[in-house]
Amino acid sequence: MPTNLSLLNNSQIQDCLKNKSLKIGVVGIGRIGLPTALCIANSDLETIGIDINEKLVAMINSKDYPLKDEPEFDKIFDNVISVKKLFATTDIIQAIPKCDIVILSLPTPMNDQNVPDYTALLTVGKSLNALLSDGQIVIVESTVEPGFIENELLNAIEGREKTLKSGVDFHLAVCPETANPGEIMKDFQKLPRLVGSIDENISSIVTALYTHVFGVELIQMPNCKTANAVKLTTNVFRDINIAFVNELALLFEKLGIDTHTVIDAAKRKYNFQPHFPGPGVGGPCLPVNSYQYLNSSKKIDNNFLKIVQEARKINENMPQHVVNLLISAFDESNKNLSNSTVTLLGVSYKPNVHDIQIAPSEQIIQLLNQKNIKLKIFDPYFISETVFGYKTEKSIHDAINTSDAIVVITGHKEFDNLDLENIANSISKPILIDCTGKINPKHVKSKGIIFRGIGRGAI
Ligand SMILES: NC(=O)c1ccc[n+]([C@@H]2O[C@H](COP(=O)([O-])OP(=O)(O)OC[C@H]3O[C@@H](n4cnc5c(N)ncnc54)[C@H](O)[C@@H]3O)[C@@H](O)[C@H]2O)c1
Repeated sequence: MPTNLSLLNNSQIQDCLKNKSLKIGVVGIGRIGLPTALCIANSDLETIGIDINEKLVAMINSKDYPLKDEPEFDKIFDNVISVKKLFATTDIIQAIPKCDIVILSLPTPMNDQNVPDYTALLTVGKSLNALLSDGQIVIVESTVEPGFIENELLNAIEGREKTLKSGVDFHLAVCPETANPGEIMKDFQKLPRLVGSIDENISSIVTALYTHVFGVELIQMPNCKTANAVKLTTNVFRDINIAFVNELALLFEKLGIDTHTVIDAAKRKYNFQPHFPGPGVGGPCLPVNSYQYLNSSKKIDNNFLKIVQEARKINENMPQHVVNLLISAFDESNKNLSNSTVTLLGVSYKPNVHDIQIAPSEQIIQLLNQKNIKLKIFDPYFISETVFGYKTEKSIHDAINTSDAIVVITGHKEFDNLDLENIANSISKPILIDCTGKINPKHVKSKGIIFRGIGRGAI
């Protein structure tokens, strides 16, 4: 029988944490949910990871760590699985009634019309209606637009017939996750967390749990929608600023100015925050979060947040710009783009992760497909996998061999020291397009390679 934490005072809650008598369920044990569940289990609280992905659940229970590109959690994983502090299940019906606190780390993607899709949260919310009863606390870590918790998720859990009553049978709170893939451990240890709840006293219980598990600062928000607005604001701020530097990059290419030189010098001023141009903005967060804000504003007035609409258009047009750079390099080389072989290096949406969600590489591939080009793809995080319909190459050597041009899309650390000599020697009239800003144009040109880079006006 779960403990109704809302009936306990602060010192009784601290006792529950110290005695390790609380059981925590984490629904959705993916990129964010699994590291969260691991940290909770590592703080000695019994933890159940609940997920519909049978393969993932089987991997976890057979001690096979699934997040290979997320460092530092593998040791914790081995430890908490072997001492049985964490186990995984697909059986939400059995698991939830055993939990005192349920954390939702479910995906919140968007559909192909860029409309936020909250199906996973609403589906689980509806099943919680039949599974909660004793004042358990449900904490939503997923990223949602302001008002979704109060207007939609709350209703889903209470049920159409209001068979459950919020504040009595269960309590709803949010603690939006802000960690960065590839650096989750670092972020878990240092980033403050936001807490908001429907019933005010629940925030202090959430604070006690997260302080116990993560030991970071908890920022108290007046309600759930404000906490969710903070989370969206930090990411949409980045989407807009990247759009700004992407526009500057297009202008500077025409003006003969190097964008990276400008940003490097501008950041010496204390109130300038550097953002960098690139082939587009991907991943499960930034583009989705901009559309979540646009969805919120559409419900009130479509004229709000014009800057976000424009930022999206600019960032979504960057893959076309990459193709334009390639066309211009082929023109300079007098080689034919049609029937050529082009090698793409990196498909992940950001460096050093195995993740292609909303990756700009997909659109670049689609645009190049329309031009009758043979594509070769190499990504050290996707070796010999099928990505966007292409079997990726086994090695960078295979990828570069017999190619006409190289496009470096993702700034993976493995591409930091590209063998320019090899590119210059294995390709006739070699071409290199850099979307990452990490490659020195002068070095490339000194090898006789035709170079284009996003925002590299002065080359
Ligand atoms: N990945 C990030 O960079 C990041 C960072 C901060 C916040 N977030 C937010 O965290 C949330 C989770 O994102 P993620 O990247 O961990 O997603 P993910 O896709 O890696 O993991 C989600 C997990 O939920 C499971 N799932 C889906 N539907 C389910 C259901 N009905 N019942 C049980 N399990 C179900 C999936 O099988 C998957 O394992 C999202 O709202 C996301 O916006 C993500």
